[in-house]
Amino acid sequence: MSMQTKYLLEENQMPRSWYNIQADLPKAAPAVLHPGTLQPVGPDDLAPLFPMALIMQEVSQEREIEIPEPVRDVYRLWRPAPLFRAHRLEKALGTPAKIYYKYEGVSPAGSHKPNTAVPQAFYNKEAGVKRLVTETGAGQWGTSLAFAGSLYGLEVEVFQVRVSYDQKPYRRAVMETYGARCVASPSNETAFGRSVLAKNPNHPGSLGIAISEAVELAVQREDTKYALGSVLNHVLLHQTVIGQEAMVQMQMADAWPDVVIGCAGGGSNFAGIAFPFIGHGLRGGEKSRIVAVEPAACPSLTRGKYAYDFGDTAGMTPLTKMHTLGSQFTPPGFHAGGLRYHGMAALVSHCKELGLIEAVAYNQVECFEAGVLFARNEGIVPAPEANHAVKGAIEEALRCKREGKAENILFCLSGHGHFDMTSYQKYFAGELSDESYDERELAMALEGLPSVPEPA
Ligand SMILES: Cc1ncc(COP(=O)(O)O)c(C=O)c1O
Repeated sequence: MSMQTKYLLEENQMPRSWYNIQADLPKAAPAVLHPGTLQPVGPDDLAPLFPMALIMQEVSQEREIEIPEPVRDVYRLWRPAPLFRAHRLEKALGTPAKIYYKYEGVSPAGSHKPNTAVPQAFYNKEAGVKRLVTETGAGQWGTSLAFAGSLYGLEVEVFQVRVSYDQKPYRRAVMETYGARCVASPSNETAFGRSVLAKNPNHPGSLGIAISEAVELAVQREDTKYALGSVLNHVLLHQTVIGQEAMVQMQMADAWPDVVIGCAGGGSNFAGIAFPFIGHGLRGGEKSRIVAVEPAACPSLTRGKYAYDFGDTAGMTPLTKMHTLGSQFTPPGFHAGGLRYHGMAALVSHCKELGLIEAVAYNQVECFEAGVLFARNEGIVPAPEANHAVKGAIEEALRCKREGKAENILFCLSGHGHFDMTSYQKYFAGELSDESYDERELAMALEGLPSVPEPA
């Protein structure tokens, strides 16, 4: 039996373009609306926040968008990323399934986030921008933008969600090492942050609030733009390098995936691995089942409403049709900080509506249990977010065992957990609980959804 474990690509096999799923979808995603006029936003509406090159990618219908050569040069620092076969995990589970994982933790920041941080910083630099402002949950995105900013000589300011800021002091140290400034959100540095603190001085923060703070600062200065680490079409687009590489590597392994799995916070690593496979199926190629895994404590895809909502808490962003728990929903402070977002990427939500993807939700304790089993067999300690994908893959492998099927399972291991060891320690000490999911709070947040007439 072959024990080949790693499937590696040469640098010259790195994708030359990003894949835009919008070109292949049977039905276009609903328009993004201006919050004032409720009319579709145009490029000019977004210009205070993003450079035009990224705005054009946001609305592009082209199937392939060329990756600029200087961006590919930076990608070479860690791409192509390895694909592994999890032989030892398969054995531990006693499953006939073959489990493969695409490992994105080899990037300098330790996750998939630099795949988009680098092109975002590149296009901003080209447009003459001097400063980028952003939010971060787990700290992975803030670290990635700090890294990318340092390469291009951009100032980077990061609003980090308060609970993650407190849980992960070393993430902040890494951001500072790359030269970024990191502030706990809600903060006193913005009018919105002050208004949140006035109501609750101990507010744990949320991605929605941190986004509002970052956007507020970005629109104040001509030389400053905003950068988002997930959710938007151009971010998902940049992440498709993951799936495109994985396709070639799965062919090398002679194992086309029966099922493709990713954890979903805002949806970017999930889209990154999944969209190229969905597109392949839509163009008449072999189809795979596609499964998004989210936390039971913040279940936008499985229990949210598909409706127009704001991307942030203050209501400063355009309105997007997505699966949402309501932009006023503050998810409980569980340890997968990067999955604590009230909404889901519009394109991922749209794929769910079209029946192109499935979604499941798991509790944090069972996800840590899955992550520990993975670490003890495969060696890599996954990020708490990535544990959700590991759990999803294990559940599929156990199903295969019950059904006696030797399916090929592919999942995205989106990052390592080296800065998340406090969470692991709490898990081992039995201090992690499955945060109860507050139906009442959700119902209230959903009541507050903006009312947007459905287009005829
Ligand atoms: C390692 C890791 N995986 C997944 C996520 C979730 O984000 P997304 O759904 O955009 O991939 C994050 C977010 O910070 C992360 O750090």
